[in-house]
Amino acid sequence: MNLIADWNRTAPRKTRTEIVRFNHRMAETGLFTDEALARLLDETPREEITICTMPPRPPADLRWIAGDAPGIDGAGLVEATRRGRLWVSPRSAMTKHPTYRKVFNQLMGEFSKATGQRVLSADAAVLISSANMGIFFHVDPAETMLWHIRGTKTMLVYPPKEEIVTELALEAILLKETLSDLPWRPEMESQAVSVTLKGGEAVSWPIHSPHRVLNGDDLNVSMSVEFSTPRSMLTNGVFYTNGILRRRAGMNPTSRGTADILKPAYWAASRAIKALAPPKNNVERAHDRRFDVDLSAPWCIKWRPGYEPQGA
Ligand SMILES: [Fe+2]
Repeated sequence: MNLIADWNRTAPRKTRTEIVRFNHRMAETGLFTDEALARLLDETPREEITICTMPPRPPADLRWIAGDAPGIDGAGLVEATRRGRLWVSPRSAMTKHPTYRKVFNQLMGEFSKATGQRVLSADAAVLISSANMGIFFHVDPAETMLWHIRGTKTMLVYPPKEEIVTELALEAILLKETLSDLPWRPEMESQAVSVTLKGGEAVSWPIHSPHRVLNGDDLNVSMSVEFSTPRSMLTNGVFYTNGILRRRAGMNPTSRGTADILKPAYWAASRAIKALAPPKNNVERAHDRRFDVDLSAPWCIKWRPGYEPQGA
C-alpha cells in the first residue's frame, strides 16, 4: 500500500516553493486508533511525552502550560484528551518506536521520490490533542509538514518574508538563543493562508514559513514531520554564518538574497564555527509543570497549588 494516496491538487515538485496539500492513508495502518495510541503512549518513556494545556481557541501568541500525568496510563491519557483540554505528544514516536519507524521510513521514501527532495535526516512527533487546542505562532528551522490523521484542524501559514519573520529572529533560533516562537502582530493575519485539513490530508509549506494551528471541535490526531535536505542545510548555513557575523563582527549581512553558488561556502563556514564554538543553549527547556492530568477534574486538569488560573 502506498501511504501517499495522490498528489492530485498540486504537483509534488512545488513542495519547495508553495503550500502543497496532498492525501494520505496513514489511518489505514491502524497505528492511530485510540487503542493503538494508548499502547504507543504506554511504550514511550514518559520523559519523551509532552503534556500541555491552554485555554480553548488560544490567542496566536500564547505559550503552552506544561503538566504531568503521574499514575495515568496511555488509555487514560487518550480518554483525558478526548474529554479535556490537553495536548499530548510523544515527540519522536515516528523514529523511536520500531513499529511506527517502519511506516515513517516508507512515508519519507515516498515523499522523497515524489518531490525530488533528498532527505538527509527526518523526525516526527505524534500529536494527540483536544478540541479547540492549538499551536502558537512560530517558525521551525528545519523543513516541516503536517500529516493530519483524525479530526479537523486549521493551519495558518504566513509567508517567510522579512516583515513577518526577520532574519535576526531566524538567526536567533538557529543559534539557539531563543525557542522557535516569534513575535506576532495582528496585522500579520491578513497575509496568512488558511488551510483546513480533515483526516487523511497533509500539507507542506516552504522552509521558514511561520505558522500556527487551531484544532476544530473534535479530538485531533496528527503527525508533525521535520526533515533536512541539502538545500535546507545550505540555507540554514547562510543564516547561521550571517548570525555570527552580525553578532560577533558587527556586520549587517542579509541571508535571503544570497546567491546559490555561494551557499556551500557559508555552509562550510557554519560547520567550522559550530565546531570551534558550539552555540550555547540559552533556551530554558525545563518548563515547570503546573498541573496534573486528572480524569475527575474539570477539563481533566488538576492545577498544582499556586497555579490555578484566575477566573478558571
Ligand atoms: Fe511548526
